[in-house]
Amino acid sequence: MNPSFSTSDENPVKAPFEPLLSLRWDNDKLLMLDQRLLPDEIVMLELFTSEQVFESIRSMKVRGAPAIGISAAYGVVLGAWEYKGEDADHWLKHVLKTAAYLAESRPTAVNLFWALDRMNKKAHQLAEQTGTTADRNAGLLAEAIAIHVEDEEVCRMIGEHALPLFSDGMGVLTHCNAGGLATAKYGTALAPMYLAHEKGINLKVYADETRPVLQGARLTAFELQQAGIDVTLLCDNMAGMVMSKGWIQAVIVGADRVAANGDVANKIGTYSVAVLAKAHNIPFYVACPLSTIDLSTANGAEIPIEERSAEEVTEGFGKRTAPQDIKVFNPAFDVTPNEYVTAIITEKGIVYPSYEEGLRNIFEV
Ligand code: MRU
Repeated sequence: MNPSFSTSDENPVKAPFEPLLSLRWDNDKLLMLDQRLLPDEIVMLELFTSEQVFESIRSMKVRGAPAIGISAAYGVVLGAWEYKGEDADHWLKHVLKTAAYLAESRPTAVNLFWALDRMNKKAHQLAEQTGTTADRNAGLLAEAIAIHVEDEEVCRMIGEHALPLFSDGMGVLTHCNAGGLATAKYGTALAPMYLAHEKGINLKVYADETRPVLQGARLTAFELQQAGIDVTLLCDNMAGMVMSKGWIQAVIVGADRVAANGDVANKIGTYSVAVLAKAHNIPFYVACPLSTIDLSTANGAEIPIEERSAEEVTEGFGKRTAPQDIKVFNPAFDVTPNEYVTAIITEKGIVYPSYEEGLRNIFEV
């Protein structure tokens, strides 16, 4: 994955680091890294149907807001291919039905609905043009590829905007995985870490393990370690302690949905980290693309929060760690109220409070 080659044993030359990509379009199928198996196994799944994409999103083989959106866009393409006729209206109905089906896969990350909405708009345009079903399908595929390619650039821009907030030697804490694995490349919260590394700025990253699915341990610690970035893994309940020791100068996390008032839904546990950061006078940054900002949701109370199975808590990764029949509450996300958020970093720039106006304006930049 990070190969070395050498002209002599004494002078090994490192090949440029190539990160693992979570998604790749390959001619007639979607290649998807099965994130549930990381870090032990690196398995690329081949997906040929919208049902396979739906199941992969729901079971979190692919996860992270932007990666979910990109996958769903390809899912629409795969679904469209099942229509065998030449009637543009029937094709459109079929595409819209596929998109509505994929929208049921997970409720919180708004990038899913953003990407499906964009595919639906494209489908409407294509259905109005003259052309064959093959032409229309090619147009849909081009849109899905555009969503995918743009995400890489968007993440890099988030990193560029965030980078000046960090300086050599800083301790930076992150929660969950908002890295390359959650996006097309670079990630959102991890993008400045990759760019800092490229520029020789050394950050000391602390990754919360992120119960119950351990995205921090399995994914963030893994991808940063692969990239050669200094990363230390913490159990979630250690964040306050390391902050009190003065080891953390900034917190940066991703988001699944940002409401119009700047309330942020992100992985469960983010709210606790934000409160701890405020108590220790540490800036708490949220990094996300504009596709994560949902101006139609007024505030955090309106964001639907997914609840997942009790087994994730009682027998995660195959080992029972709680009594049989215990009552379990397992929300996958929480909402951090805007007053805890120091700034929201997007591909268009940084938004500071008050968010209502700033978030509206950033779409016009
Ligand atoms: O349940 P997950 O793993 O999909 O949750 C992911 C997160 O909460 C990420 O922080 C968020 O999607 C941002 S990804 C750039």
